[in-house]
Amino acid sequence: MRHDPLPCADRVGRLHSGFPETDALLILSEKNIRYLTGFTGGDGALMAGPDWLKLLVDGRYVTQARAEARGVEVFEFRNRVDGIAAVVRERAIGEIGFESPAFTVEEYFKLQERLPEATLRPLPKDFEFLRAVKDESEIDRIREAARIAGEALAAVREMIRPGVREKEIALELEYRMRRDGAEQVSFETIVAAGANSALPHATPGRRAIADGDCVLIDYGAVCDGYHSDETCTFIVGRASERQREVYRLVLEAHDRAIRAIRAGVSCAEIDRIARLCLVEAGLGVLFSHGAGHGVGLDVHEAPRLAAGREEILRAGMVVTVEPGVYLPGVWGIRIEDTVLVTEEGCEILTRTSKDLTMI
Ligand code: GLY
Ligand code: MN
Ligand code: MN
Repeated sequence: MRHDPLPCADRVGRLHSGFPETDALLILSEKNIRYLTGFTGGDGALMAGPDWLKLLVDGRYVTQARAEARGVEVFEFRNRVDGIAAVVRERAIGEIGFESPAFTVEEYFKLQERLPEATLRPLPKDFEFLRAVKDESEIDRIREAARIAGEALAAVREMIRPGVREKEIALELEYRMRRDGAEQVSFETIVAAGANSALPHATPGRRAIADGDCVLIDYGAVCDGYHSDETCTFIVGRASERQREVYRLVLEAHDRAIRAIRAGVSCAEIDRIARLCLVEAGLGVLFSHGAGHGVGLDVHEAPRLAAGREEILRAGMVVTVEPGVYLPGVWGIRIEDTVLVTEEGCEILTRTSKDLTMI
């Protein structure tokens, strides 16, 4: 059968050159399949040999796969494991490198049972870096997602006042992002007021905003598959001395980390810089998560900006910087931007001001 030229040929080329020692690669996560073929369906498997590529989907996705993954042979299965086993036998594949985080233990055992002659090897950890460096079209989509999200937040800002419930603001923000161009929201929007803002991943509820509250809003939009991620913390009414001081320190940690970001610096170093600023102020133990993460087709992807992550930042990576201080039962402050790593520094893609804002 003849196929159109492969639209993601450079990505598939990188996949092959990164893992030359296996007979075939088995890619199982929805986002990696999308990245390599353009297929946006929710289920399937991609098998890649040295000079062939096969997209395995069930009957629901055959038409869509043919339309989206031009140049890729589409194979229909009834059951994913059986489909993979059939291709392995057809191609007489001996060793398969598979994407282990996207395979269930049950599927793994089933496949091994079907293929007693074949060797299944998990792909090495650095496989997760396949999508870490973004091209111009990916960056444009993240930039657009950040623009849509930022405009939606600006529009709902007047809702941040005493008496309004967290959930009302979250719903309005999500509605505006989707109405104005987001295909979905990056994750369940966090609007957390008062003591709830001390929970890094709070769920918006019926709590009404009160005077003096910190209101932490962590939100993002998805544009053509690509996510944005931003957190703003507002103070309602007049900020207390303690709120001002902690806000200043979190912003300082955020700014110092952003100033340090450029190609060639390690992820751990950025985390260390952000953390040091809070540790010096005696707030280190209250910064209870990593300093950031990659953003792209997933809202959390490689690289991780955290202690021990010695991977090196490269131009084209898109990462968040998100220090936070959480005083349990009292309030919390997080400041987060999504930035594009460049040779000389970084460009901030999420454009909402991070200056202390009292509303
Ligand atoms: N909202 C998830 C995060 O900021 O990582
Ligand atoms: Mn976030
Ligand atoms: Mn984040």
